[in-house]
Amino acid sequence: MDNNDRFITSTKNLTDAEIENSLRPTSFDEYIGQTKVKESLEVYIKAAKSRKESLDHVLLYGPPGLGKTTLSHIIANELGAQFKVTSGPAIEHAADLAAILTNLNQNDVLFIDEIHRLNKTVEEILYPAMEDFALDFIVGKGPSARNMRLKIKPFTLIGATTRAGMLTNPLRDRFGVICRLELYSTEELQVIIKRSANILGIKIDDDASREIAMRSRGTPRIANRLLKRVRDYAQVLGEGHVTKSIADKTLQIMEIDELGLDTIDRKIMLSIINKFGGGPVGLDTLSATISEDSSTIEDVYEPYLLQLGFISRTPRGRVALEPAYKHFGIEFYKN
Ligand SMILES: Nc1ncnc2c1ncn2[C@@H]1O[C@H](COP(=O)(O)OP(=O)(O)OP(=O)(O)O)[C@@H](O)[C@H]1O
Ligand SMILES: [Mg+2]
Repeated sequence: MDNNDRFITSTKNLTDAEIENSLRPTSFDEYIGQTKVKESLEVYIKAAKSRKESLDHVLLYGPPGLGKTTLSHIIANELGAQFKVTSGPAIEHAADLAAILTNLNQNDVLFIDEIHRLNKTVEEILYPAMEDFALDFIVGKGPSARNMRLKIKPFTLIGATTRAGMLTNPLRDRFGVICRLELYSTEELQVIIKRSANILGIKIDDDASREIAMRSRGTPRIANRLLKRVRDYAQVLGEGHVTKSIADKTLQIMEIDELGLDTIDRKIMLSIINKFGGGPVGLDTLSATISEDSSTIEDVYEPYLLQLGFISRTPRGRVALEPAYKHFGIEFYKN
């Protein structure tokens, strides 16, 4: 199945753009959860502002839909800085990045999404830019070639990635602040859902928002998407007011179970359990068996299955754990 057709996926699809813009928090106060990350960023931002310096470069990493892009906007807002956006795959040539960097104003924020996808020659431009606020060039050829250094204005780079492990060491080492975003608790998601319902003018009962929160697999983007869908059903079935029974019914129709698992999650787990005797099974084998991209399994599905304690990653492959057997009502034998 194409990733964009699937409902539960926490990667973006087209209608998200409109929803996300209206629901995206613009200040730390509105940004729910991620308390540790927020607290430390607030301190660093205050300190940088009082010294009138640029904030250290920040790396944000974690699964899709947890608020990396949102948080970078907020950081720029709180700094009172200009916000420039680009992404790893969008920068093809070193010269493109050099042009972006030389056009930055003092203490601007440059956001590079999917920073793990920068190509090597582009990435090398970043090293002196991040460390010394300078660009290095070689001018001329042969024995008369010499190094030239061009100063640029101090700026803050914010890199976002779902794959911190794919960053090269020299790049990772140049970030002063590295923040890992965690999956959200049910309570936090409930607050997010209530806030979104308020913005969208949806009336929702407490037990209904809790029910949606519990099935949002720790991800605000999914919570907002489920809320919109439940609202559609509420309009058709119950005059727009979202009750628990409407939420339940909607989620049941969408084949999202009480833990938030969808058909792909079930396919992943049942295939490990039934076809591979509980594992270990390698990621590529698993990906071929269920016809699902291995990076999608790794980035989108596994973080939540790991959090539930349904699977573990071992050097020999993925293994199904006892709670998964319990959830699917399958008897568990310890090997
Ligand atoms: N802490 C939060 N509080 C309230 N809403 C949030 C929070 N984090 C994210 N959201 C909501 O979730 C949506 C998705 O967040 P965002 O686009 O920032 O995720 P992301 O981590 O950048 O995802 P991707 O990896 O796909 O780029 C936002 O539009 C916002 O509505
Ligand atoms: Mg993003």
